[in-house]
Amino acid sequence: MVEYRAAGPRTETPVPNNPRGTLDPSPTESPRPMSARFEELDWQQTPMGDLTLRRRTDPQLGVEVFEVKLGEEFLMSSLFTVAEEALATIGLAATPGENLDVLVGGLGLGYTAVTALRDSRVASVTVIDALPAVIDWHERELLPTSTELVKDARTRLVLDDFFALMRRVPDARYDAILLDVDHSPRHQLDPSHADLYEVAGLQALAAHLKPGGIFALWSDDPPDEEFMAKLAAVLDETAAHVVDFANALTGGTSSNTVFIGRARSLQLGP
Ligand SMILES: C[S@@+](CC[C@H](N)C(=O)[O-])C[C@H]1O[C@@H](n2cnc3c(N)ncnc32)[C@H](O)[C@@H]1O
Repeated sequence: MVEYRAAGPRTETPVPNNPRGTLDPSPTESPRPMSARFEELDWQQTPMGDLTLRRRTDPQLGVEVFEVKLGEEFLMSSLFTVAEEALATIGLAATPGENLDVLVGGLGLGYTAVTALRDSRVASVTVIDALPAVIDWHERELLPTSTELVKDARTRLVLDDFFALMRRVPDARYDAILLDVDHSPRHQLDPSHADLYEVAGLQALAAHLKPGGIFALWSDDPPDEEFMAKLAAVLDETAAHVVDFANALTGGTSSNTVFIGRARSLQLGP
């Protein structure tokens, strides 16, 4: 049994909050004093709160870190990408066939999407994000994954609400849908996302999959029996994979979960 410890970058503050554009959050805590100056690359108001992209040099690790904050919550840090990449590798390992059409929900720092592109069976990666700023950062090639992502002819970045898209009658069907928007099926960024994690919402999502196609979902919470039961009501071969990774901030091991399931041959629409 794996002990589950969430990484926390999306829910905790790795450095104390500072006014935007200021510097050195903890100069006396570092065993190796060095500049912890951070640079705010972008700041925008969004309906979900203030969105900030910043780059800093971590004083303890001595590495460059890209971070995205939405309001007071850390949405993403480039220090934690193992499970975001595993979302794509686990999802695609279960996806049969060639010329795969992949839908990614939530662009963020782009790790899930570029990992999908590195699978040579993938013919297209459509990435949906609700925030124009996030798409803009990649189009301006501001992030470590951006150039690989936007220069690949298989990539399509689409501004849309993933949850609204799943409620619509499908105009395309995918071999795999990889979703990483919310913290977990129980903890959503926005209340309007909640219905997707219920049986009816999962049925609507499954209608966007080809028969045998795979739905994979990132979660910051441990495997969740109640959600697993809902998933199993809609999809076959459901599983919850615990992904462990070294947490450079705590020096310990953290874990995320990737839920997966396979679309049935005859998938009824919403
Ligand atoms: C945690 S990040 C995704 C991280 C990504 N897996 C990666 O590898 O970097 C979540 C993303 O979901 C986006 N998002 C939030 N609400 C959304 C919605 N309703 N539809 C689509 N994307 C949404 C955010 O703008 C953010 O870019």
